Amino acid sequence: MSTHSRKPLVAGNWKMNGSGSLAEEFSIAMQQHTFNRVDVVVCPPYPFLQSLSGKFAVGAQNVSALQNGAHTGEVSGEMLKECGCSYVIVGHSERRQDQNESSDNVVEKAVAALQAGLTPIVCVGEPLAVREQNDVHGYISDQLAPLLGKLTNEELKKCILAYEPIWAIGTGKTATPEQAQDVHAFIRSELAAKSTEVADKVRVLYGGSVKPDNAAELFAQPDIDGGLIGGASLKVNDFVAICQAAN
Ligand code: PGA
Repeated sequence: MSTHSRKPLVAGNWKMNGSGSLAEEFSIAMQQHTFNRVDVVVCPPYPFLQSLSGKFAVGAQNVSALQNGAHTGEVSGEMLKECGCSYVIVGHSERRQDQNESSDNVVEKAVAALQAGLTPIVCVGEPLAVREQNDVHGYISDQLAPLLGKLTNEELKKCILAYEPIWAIGTGKTATPEQAQDVHAFIRSELAAKSTEVADKVRVLYGGSVKPDNAAELFAQPDIDGGLIGGASLKVNDFVAICQAAN
């Protein structure tokens, strides 16, 4: 399987962090860099999307599965598009845990994103107990099944996947390049079971304590097509260094 047809992507997930002044700092700093061989996306909280969107590619961290109507607190894909978003993270493990999002909900959100013309970044990843029981592939396969079952090949080709082992998120304990590559290759084999064209095309990002000093080694793996960066995406210099590692 060729790894050279996929352009890497680095996405920063600010989570519920940041401020108008951080957004301003990012706008200035990011404009001083050009990344030709990597797509770069910043996913700040909703209120900062519009001010950042004119400057570089931005994504949201969640989207409603619904189009509009009486759903207090929800934000639709079309609204995100209007704010200048081009990507949206769906199914992050924090939302699966805190908001009880199921893999079926995640598919509905991915579909809503695609309908609005956004690129969904669909996250999967196992908790520590699953890894200790040696059932990582089974767990990831279950998380992917509704997505692979409901989306057409054409829709899947427009998605990005992210493998984020829960035990590596925000813990400073990153997966080794071998552990990450093993799961990325498994995810690609699941995609290939549907279509080799889909498997070749879809980018699979790694997330979980990616830092400037471990990014290059992770991104060098044949099935790792970039990263989803939490903590390190809040520090301009670290984020730029990670983007450079993918570049
Ligand atoms: P982290 O978060 O880089 O802080 O581990 C990654 C994520 O949750 O996307």
